[in-house]
Amino acid sequence: DWTMAAYRDEAVAAIRAKVGDARVVCGLSGGVDSAVTAVLVHEAIGERLTCVFVDTGMMREGEADEVVGLFRDHHNIPLIHADEGPRFLAALDGVTDPEQKRKTIGKIFIDVFQEHAESIGKVKFLAQGTLYPDVIESVSVTGGPSVTIKSHHNVGGLPERMNLGLVEPLRALFKDEVRALGRELGLPERFVGRHPFPGPGLAIRCPGEITAEKLAILRRADAVYLEEIRNAGLYDEIWQAFAALLPVRSVGVMGDGRSYDYVLALRAVTSVDGMTADYYPFEHDFLGRVAGRIINEVRGVNRVVYDVTSKPPGTIEWE
Ligand code: XMP
Repeated sequence: DWTMAAYRDEAVAAIRAKVGDARVVCGLSGGVDSAVTAVLVHEAIGERLTCVFVDTGMMREGEADEVVGLFRDHHNIPLIHADEGPRFLAALDGVTDPEQKRKTIGKIFIDVFQEHAESIGKVKFLAQGTLYPDVIESVSVTGGPSVTIKSHHNVGGLPERMNLGLVEPLRALFKDEVRALGRELGLPERFVGRHPFPGPGLAIRCPGEITAEKLAILRRADAVYLEEIRNAGLYDEIWQAFAALLPVRSVGVMGDGRSYDYVLALRAVTSVDGMTADYYPFEHDFLGRVAGRIINEVRGVNRVVYDVTSKPPGTIEWE
């Protein structure tokens, strides 16, 4: 892509000019935006970039290994893997309110990030994958009271706390352009074409109390669902697809006996920007196959339902 090749060169030059010989830290989330930011900044300043991957333990199956494998091993980018799952889980003990989950995770996230960023030494800049729509959203003051439906966390507040400048090489781009730039930089398609994933991760796909056992069930069921979506060739038609483990048990039959296990909800939506969304009209055969596999293969789930709510009035996530 000619445009993206030119953009890449300009962005690399701009990063070098801004950063000089200072050190930069970048938080990796497993998402496309932070991945493209990291590879671009690494191209500009090499080893003076260190990435910090705060592993909340709320990631999907195989995701943490994938992130570490791609950046540390494939791209050779210095990477700190802050494997803090137990710390997040302990802090979430007894927390059931969705906003409280976000705040709890957001706070620890920043603490962990700061601890590691400070351990690098001489860091003067924070690189982040802010996109154009984020820029517009944060400056569009219409005068009326704004209603926050869900608070999103990032490393907000950290630049001030650590006195860091910002490097935001994607500020002029939309999501599809970020994906094109990612391809230009040689990021694998599987990474570049990924569905968005929320910062609080599986914590907000597990309504009610979060336990290690529930997370394990959800993680496995979600992986089976996504595998079927990929096998059916539907992944790229869908904006986001995931499973949510409901805090409800239902009765079923298993062999000669009775089962009493969790209900799993499947969600898949199409969308352009996440602001509005339609539920995805899967064939019934497909849904039946996924339900059959999950109930057979994932212990702890004996009933699967499909969410047919569009946004609005629903939201994409369950919490
Ligand atoms: P909702 O559920 O509000 O989601 O319709 C819209 C988009 O935002 C994502 N989302 C989040 N992303 N932190 C994030 O980084 C969050 O707390 C959060 N909540 C929702 C959601 O996955 C969808 O893409």
